[in-house]
Amino acid sequence: MANIVIVGTLFGDEGKGKIVDLLTQQVDYVVRFQGGNNAGHTVEIGDEQYILHLIPSGILHKDKMCIIGNGVVIDPKCLLDEIKFLESRGMSVGGRLFISDIAHMIFPYHKVLDELREQKKGKKKIGTTKRGIGPAYADKVSRMGIRMIDLLNENIFKEKLSMNLEEKNDLIKNVYNGESLSFNEIFDSYMRYAEQIKPYLAQIPHILHKALIDKKNILFEGAQGTMLDVDFGTYPYVTSSNPTAGGACIGTGFAPSKIDEVVGVTKAYSTRVGEGPFTTEFSGSFADWFRKQGNEYGATTGRPRRCGWFDCVLMKYSVLINQFDYLAMTKLDVMDGLESIKICTVYKYKGEIFDVFQNDLEILKNCEPVYEELPGWQESTKNIRDYNKLPKNALAYIDRITQFLGVPIKIVSVGAKREATIFVD
Ligand code: GDP
Ligand code: IMO
Ligand code: MG
Repeated sequence: MANIVIVGTLFGDEGKGKIVDLLTQQVDYVVRFQGGNNAGHTVEIGDEQYILHLIPSGILHKDKMCIIGNGVVIDPKCLLDEIKFLESRGMSVGGRLFISDIAHMIFPYHKVLDELREQKKGKKKIGTTKRGIGPAYADKVSRMGIRMIDLLNENIFKEKLSMNLEEKNDLIKNVYNGESLSFNEIFDSYMRYAEQIKPYLAQIPHILHKALIDKKNILFEGAQGTMLDVDFGTYPYVTSSNPTAGGACIGTGFAPSKIDEVVGVTKAYSTRVGEGPFTTEFSGSFADWFRKQGNEYGATTGRPRRCGWFDCVLMKYSVLINQFDYLAMTKLDVMDGLESIKICTVYKYKGEIFDVFQNDLEILKNCEPVYEELPGWQESTKNIRDYNKLPKNALAYIDRITQFLGVPIKIVSVGAKREATIFVD
């Protein structure tokens, strides 16, 4: 048994929800440590589909404890809607959901600013989810943020909201030509949310410490992915938090010395939603055909996802940063029926070969992928549950990727449902 961190290897939507749901069986606690309701984690159980945005995917297991850590930015309305949604489907969260009292909140002005900034950037927009994530993290770092704990003291909350709104309305009106927001409306609605949220607030480091002493197992559920990390990703086309393994400690108050395993979730190919460089991206009619084949539409915004070949240059960087103990590869079934499959091994830039990720976006944008081509397989993998029964060419594809990355692939997923999983042993 172990304390496990699960992170996305590239640009998010790797299938973390499905893998977290699978591994939750082995743990007692599931903890979200960064991001907010920009995330959309899908879990399919039987004929039911759940898309979770803020609450850990482990909540679907009725006996597990779930935690939202300090590194998450919380939109209280979204949180309460999600609790209602779960309860309407028979998943009670009372007594097993704990929310960090020092997590920062998202306010309506964060969403408005997210939208207005994107508009103003025009062609240079990031393609955010417009959930107010970036502006909320910016306030946290600039020490203007309002934390969950502030909901407990009406006067302090009023003072902080008033100071914030004065500044934000100034920006909204005078810089972006937008419409200012009403103090009373925000204040009243957040005071209503406060009543409902209070019972969930807790000091998470103490809960996690007790879990350690009681020899409980903890799973840390990352959102987004390594190449969207605000430090290591394709800046500025990134999110505003640290979805990498280290983020699990910062975003919860859990010590690095107590993490036992780091697991990376990767698709059998690559996807990205939003703007930013994507070296192995498909184009033309093949891109559209593949998107349909993989049902690659955002779980949060419904936007079409960009799809491309597996990129070993990015993946090697992701392995280097996260030091994965093993990988879970999802959506292998989507590649069924392809005549041939490409793996990007290195990049070419003005005649030079790069085998490492380039931080200079001007270079990265103009890198060309160099591919190794492997034969595809025509058989369906959807109903296969035994690793050795996978088509010969699918095994060769997985083996080649393992050779490139030097990390074992221990889970292969061939469908969205829990049971469509192959444990490699
Ligand atoms: P997350 O954000 O990393 O949790 O991933 P998303 O839920 O945004 O996107 C992954 C999508 O792929 C969801 O619709 C899943 O139901 C689906 N999915 C996960 N694993 C598999 C798989 O092995 N095969 C197929 N066909 N779909 C999968
Ligand atoms: P999960 O957890 C995929 C992307 C957005 C945009 C960039 C910044 O489901 O994998 P933001 O709203 O965070 O400021 O947007 O990050 N993005 C995601 N892409 N999966 C996600 O989450 C994402 N969360 C944010 O599309 O490019
Ligand atoms: Mg997602």
